Amino acid sequence: MTVPVAIALEVNGERVDAHVLPRLNLADFLREHLQLTGTHVGCEHGVCGACTVRMNGEIVRACLVLAVQASAKCVQTIEGLSDSGEIADLQAAFRERNALQCGYCTPAMLMAAQDLLGRQPEPSREEIREHLSGNYCRCTGYQAIVDAVEATARARKARPS
Ligand code: FES
Ligand code: FES
Repeated sequence: MTVPVAIALEVNGERVDAHVLPRLNLADFLREHLQLTGTHVGCEHGVCGACTVRMNGEIVRACLVLAVQASAKCVQTIEGLSDSGEIADLQAAFRERNALQCGYCTPAMLMAAQDLLGRQPEPSREEIREHLSGNYCRCTGYQAIVDAVEATARARKARPS
């Protein structure tokens, strides 16, 4: 019999204590234990990017991280970024440019785009495409997504600091 393991981590600024099976991945932990269902699951083996979350400041594929590996770490999900207002402008740009259709890829796409803009405030369209290349979208054809990220970068640059 597999024995649950105690973990303690921070999720969206709040401490979480839980007991999990060693094989439970972080995506399923977030969705099923914490009801943070904005983290989506597609391929479940690191290809589609739908499960992207931030862990200690770096984006990771939550289907490839075990929940036990997230113990003592700080995890941020799309709910955290959205509630804090950190990506409000990026979300607005996605809406304005129709950069989502079914929306399945969108939370992870926003996580990845925000990661890029944090590293490179003025990315070229090529750099945007490259950074988002690990996030699959079945609907949009990517053009509107690149437009939205580019527009957000321009607007942030023009914003008085
Ligand atoms: S579900 Fe994690 S990369 Fe596809
Ligand atoms: S909007 Fe449907 S998968 Fe991207």
